[in-house]
Amino acid sequence: MSAAEDLQSLDGVGSATADKLNEAGYNTIKAIAVASPGELSEGAGIGDSTASKIIRSARQEADVGGFETGSQLMERRREIGKISTLVPEVDQLLGGGIETQSITETYGEFGSGKSQFTHQLSVNVQLPEEHGGLGRSTIFIDTEDTFRPERIGQMVRGLDDEIIEDLLDNRGIDGAPEDEEALEELEASFLEHIHVAKAFNSNHQILLAEKARDMADDLKDGEFPVGLVTVDSLTAHFRAEYVGRGNLADRQQKLNKHMHDILRIASLHNAAAVVTNQVQSNPDSMFGDPTKPVGGNILGHTSTFRLYIRKSKNDKRVVKLVDAPNLPDGESVLRIKEEGLKPE
Ligand code: GTP
Ligand code: MG
Repeated sequence: MSAAEDLQSLDGVGSATADKLNEAGYNTIKAIAVASPGELSEGAGIGDSTASKIIRSARQEADVGGFETGSQLMERRREIGKISTLVPEVDQLLGGGIETQSITETYGEFGSGKSQFTHQLSVNVQLPEEHGGLGRSTIFIDTEDTFRPERIGQMVRGLDDEIIEDLLDNRGIDGAPEDEEALEELEASFLEHIHVAKAFNSNHQILLAEKARDMADDLKDGEFPVGLVTVDSLTAHFRAEYVGRGNLADRQQKLNKHMHDILRIASLHNAAAVVTNQVQSNPDSMFGDPTKPVGGNILGHTSTFRLYIRKSKNDKRVVKLVDAPNLPDGESVLRIKEEGLKPE
């Protein structure tokens, strides 16, 4: 999408005004959001009241509004939705489920189940509210080529019969939960609402997060607006590309921007965001502690919930909540089964 098209999403900006703004150097919404009306009207040669209107709209869109009153904050928090993990013990740990309007970071070593977790949530977000979902779709940024449609199919089939029955009904599919054709159709309909893109390197990943915002806008008024944005893995490309101490600041800055792009989608669309992260596996690296997530503090400050997943016996996994703002730290247990994530 070109910059000019981008600006036309603002109130009061048609193609002629967009051109004037671009020529005057106001080629991002953020640049407009932080401009003053006088400066904008003079610079771009547009009327004062139009300039004010454009700035207001840009501020809304760029989410740079500044202060909110306590009651406005309260109002926004009232809208927070929760996606159930369908594992009661884990939901309880999370205070009900994965929250919208914030980023949940899951971290753990290879094979701990981070990708399984993101697959399961891509199913769960689509469930109707009475079954723990938001009845919405998901955007999945896949950086390690680990997204498996077949796994989604297994997880859909692994839902309780009662849920499957309701889903068949809701999605207008004829048949019973034991009917093979109906199940295939149901699997396909779940895959329809998972929008997957593979990121080939960190720059591409950043670009995809920007595109995800356009996609969320496009789906906004449809039947399945975006309820979840997933990045699996958030850090793998960054970690591979920015090697050595000299590149650390640059890496953190890029990661920070990327996280804020994701957080913005989550806030604007009242969606959840779930990202995965590895632990520091190289004990003699400058990072030290092998139970700490990659990326350190910057990620810590942007992700509001952090879940540390670790392997236990066989299919058992221990999920630990770390540093959550309003919830006590604690642990819960789940199992990774063919049917998906299940209670112990
Ligand atoms: P990395 O991406 O390598 O860091 O690992 P991860 O944390 O994403 O691990 P992932 O979610 O891929 O978990 C892999 C584990 O999930 C496997 O070791 C299996 O134990 C389990 N698993 C994956 N698929 C299935 C399945 O179809 N059936 C069962 N029973 N378990 C599965
Ligand atoms: Mg993985």
